Amino acid sequence: MDLEDYGQPANFLASQVWPSARVAAIAMEQQLSAKALSSMTVCEFGCGPGLPSLTAAKLGAQNVVATDLDPLALELVQKASEEQGFQHVLQTQRFDLTGDVLDDNKNRLPEADLYLLSDVFESKQVALGAARVTCQILHKSQNARIWVFAQSDRACREDYLEAMRKQHQDKEGSRLEWLPMDQHDIRQQSTSKLLLFDLDETTVAYG
Ligand SMILES: C[S@@+](CC[C@H](N)C(=O)[O-])C[C@H]1O[C@@H](n2cnc3c(N)ncnc32)[C@H](O)[C@@H]1O
Repeated sequence: MDLEDYGQPANFLASQVWPSARVAAIAMEQQLSAKALSSMTVCEFGCGPGLPSLTAAKLGAQNVVATDLDPLALELVQKASEEQGFQHVLQTQRFDLTGDVLDDNKNRLPEADLYLLSDVFESKQVALGAARVTCQILHKSQNARIWVFAQSDRACREDYLEAMRKQHQDKEGSRLEWLPMDQHDIRQQSTSKLLLFDLDETTVAYG
């Protein structure tokens, strides 16, 4: 199906698979065993066409919640999920990273074991909203992990980092930095709950 078939203008940003999404999918493939994933709920924020969400479903996650502000993005993920037979595992939900988190269905924060953010720092407002949501998750859940992916030329990722360092005025905060995937020791028990993945888009392979 082509984007034009959806009968509404395509949001360029929300309808592309960005290099970060590819790296997020690879990180899950390489770092999470099928056994671990089979008991996990994975939630993606700002999913766009949702490559990481679809990958989580394909790798055997128990549940996947793909969220975005953009209805077209949610429609694309929904359609791809149905085409690939993941409709019983993957749900889509509107979630605005800049909005107040509410308990009702207007902007409910999904419960998950692993949260993914891939290339969502479109503006300072979204970066600060994402930082606020990250803090809420860290505060609310002892065990949830948050993996954030952003290429080095995304200026607003530094707004996110600065906001997160301010929140964590401890050792954890001072250790926070954007690091390439091979410098994160993800399998270590001691690994931080929040990992920031840096990527160089020119080195990301598709295929
Ligand atoms: C550059 S695209 C990245 C899409 C996808 N995550 C990827 O890496 O391929 C940015 C995504 O963030 C979403 N977005 C922008 N502002 C948002 C907000 N306030 N809340 C949630 N998602 C938002 C856009 O709709 C878009 O899908």
